[in-house]
Amino acid sequence: MGTRVVNMVGISKQFGGVGVLHSVNLCLEAGEVLGLVGKNGAGKSTLMKILYGVESADSGTIEINGRQVGVAGSAKAMRSDVAMIFQEFSLAPTLTVAENVFLRRLPTRRTGLVDVRQCQERTSEIVRSLGSDIDVNVPVATLSVAEKQLAEIAKALSQKASIIIMDEPTAALTSDQVEFLFSVIRTLKSRGVSVIYISHDLKRVLEICDRVSVLRNGRNVSVVDARAVSVDDLACDITGEEPIRATRREIGHPTSAAQVSRASDSILEVDGIIAPRVHGVSFALHPNEILGIAGLSGSGRTELLEVVFGVSQPREGRILVNGIPFRGLTPAKAIELGLYLIPDERQTKGLVLSHSVQDNMILPVLQKVMTRFLIDRRKCTELARRLSQQLNVVAASVRHRVANLSGGNQQKVVLSKAFATGSQIMLLDDPTVGVDVESKREIAQLVRQHVSSGKNAAIVVSSELELIAELCDRVLVMREGAIVDEMRAVDEPVTEARLLALV
Ligand SMILES: Nc1ncnc2c1ncn2[C@@H]1O[C@H](COP(=O)(O)OP(=O)(O)OP(=O)(O)O)[C@@H](O)[C@H]1O
Ligand SMILES: [Mg+2]
Repeated sequence: MGTRVVNMVGISKQFGGVGVLHSVNLCLEAGEVLGLVGKNGAGKSTLMKILYGVESADSGTIEINGRQVGVAGSAKAMRSDVAMIFQEFSLAPTLTVAENVFLRRLPTRRTGLVDVRQCQERTSEIVRSLGSDIDVNVPVATLSVAEKQLAEIAKALSQKASIIIMDEPTAALTSDQVEFLFSVIRTLKSRGVSVIYISHDLKRVLEICDRVSVLRNGRNVSVVDARAVSVDDLACDITGEEPIRATRREIGHPTSAAQVSRASDSILEVDGIIAPRVHGVSFALHPNEILGIAGLSGSGRTELLEVVFGVSQPREGRILVNGIPFRGLTPAKAIELGLYLIPDERQTKGLVLSHSVQDNMILPVLQKVMTRFLIDRRKCTELARRLSQQLNVVAASVRHRVANLSGGNQQKVVLSKAFATGSQIMLLDDPTVGVDVESKREIAQLVRQHVSSGKNAAIVVSSELELIAELCDRVLVMREGAIVDEMRAVDEPVTEARLLALV
């Protein structure tokens, strides 16, 4: 046993009367990389913010390097040993790397002036010791995400932090950048610095961590030795599902005759697409099918859907809709062809928040409600009322501002636009993010209803693997811009834990 540097015992926390952490324990050794995993909302970030001292706990104790620190109120001052790197970085974009690293502690000369040279030299020394050669005199705004992360780590080290918390550090990194981050983490480890590593990428977690702590619904589930556990076991701990030892069917095998004939009746074919973050993706979508795309954020899933909808153009590859290839597809053309994209960020990409339910709903079908040069308000209201009823949008009236609706109802308004255009192929990008349980169920039901009629179909991308497992007939697993696996519900049970182990 090494030296224990963190000991959190019985940490509990409520937000507005709702318990999010229930007597959670966590300990960390010197020079150890500890993984912290769990589903969205399991309480990982909250637990780490409590350790870092920017969030208070209702009860429990924390010891850092042998010293008891308070858990109530802002106890951040007590935690000079701890640094936390958030996904939204805390660097000042207009300042240089060196200025950021020494912000508020700039070395001064005897004259009282800032010693710029010393600041630069010390920063580049730290940066070089981590194996990087970035210029510390450029503004942080000009750096890549990976370089910003490095600047954050340099800042932590300059503050002599011996415990560094990284909250989802790899979500926006390419695989080369992840390799580099891992080499930095190994360097830190060799110097006795401890790292707590939060991530949904279980393969990577097992690659870099010594031990992994699993949280589920704000409770400790297990702490495992990373060398002794498989990704599947970890996935089951996270979801609480029983392991299924089904044999995994690799893709790339010759498809059966039945599947080939099905491919020929596909309504959408994506053939060898190469685009930013998408590296050669092909698949077909069939009538009455719900096709899931399971992947972590950053896997290229959003970029893929955007190419299919014509938001961006692929560098290579073809898209065929009902057998006809299209080049230079635009969203307007895609809608004409019967596609509709429900985008990932509904508030910025999917809705005009300051407008009414009705105005949002009719936006994509203005020509349907026009009489010569004027908008027929009566027709608009009729259409909006019909859609509201069909999708069960709960709002005082269709004139109500969308900004004031709940997340679930906002998402139903976005979905209604796909129904209004009479789309054949719905592309849904993370449709249930921040949506309440009841609305989630309704949205899943609406998608099922949609694909059951005519030659309709849907593609569902989601971080909520539970939704994909439950809803989809077939699932493509996407990792680092490529399809790495395929599962069909008719062949094998598609469960949340299995998907989690594959993404
Ligand atoms: N400031 C807050 N006010 C109210 N509820 C909050 C607050 N911060 C977090 N929560 C709730 O606490 C629970 C745990 O959230 P937390 O962010 O710790 O989860 P997480 O495990 O980090 O999830 P993710 O993987 O999505 O980042 C969630 O239900 C979340 O909605
Ligand atoms: Mg979090």
